Amino acid sequence: MFWFGKKKTPEQLFYHTDLHSHLLPGIDDGSPDAATSVELLRYMQSWGVKRLCVTPHVVLGRFENTPESIGAAYRQLQQEMDRQGVEMEIHCSAEYRMDDNFHRILDAGGSELLPLPGNYLLVENSFSQPALDLDNLLFNLMLKGFQPILAHPERYHYYHSKKESYQHLHNAGCLFQVNLLSLAGHYGKAPKEVALWLCKNDMVDFLGSDLHHRDHAEAITEWLCTKEYRQLADRLENIRNDKIFT
Ligand SMILES: [Fe+2]
Repeated sequence: MFWFGKKKTPEQLFYHTDLHSHLLPGIDDGSPDAATSVELLRYMQSWGVKRLCVTPHVVLGRFENTPESIGAAYRQLQQEMDRQGVEMEIHCSAEYRMDDNFHRILDAGGSELLPLPGNYLLVENSFSQPALDLDNLLFNLMLKGFQPILAHPERYHYYHSKKESYQHLHNAGCLFQVNLLSLAGHYGKAPKEVALWLCKNDMVDFLGSDLHHRDHAEAITEWLCTKEYRQLADRLENIRNDKIFT
């Protein structure tokens, strides 16, 4: 039959700014080189992304990225984009693990931080336990003028059976960024259920791709072809992805 193997065209995302990806080449567990970065960029363009904030990991002992390493990787990417004639508005930021390195940066005044536009700061817990003294840390960030966004709250299994933790953090002023990949079911049943629960309870402030590699890009592309995506998009039209630039 003729339609076997024919690729479906994904629906466009209902916003144009992606705030979470590991697209910068060679500085974390995301894209290994500039050519792969451009390939991933093309996927994003096919979803309707017009602007992106790249957010390489900053994690003690694994990816101790700094504004210098991030800037150098950005220049490599831009060079490859120029070579291939690909255009995209790109802003450099980072995804900060709230570990001892993060405390050190904050204690030194925070000038080493690369927030998103509007002083939003993408932070993450470790996957084994919440950051120590998380409430105080978030409060201190806000006192310093940052607006913390917790990356993929639905992926922290230790909150799954304590849903009141989500309400508590959100009420305390911490914004939530849910991964498209969680909604797509890429990480399994539990993160998907919690992501949907956060949607239902109006606690999704931002969506992000958290794109690391081609498998992620394919999973998101496939999900954008589903009816489920369309139905969810109607419920999430108030997310702030594009608004931080206005
Ligand atoms: Fe990430």
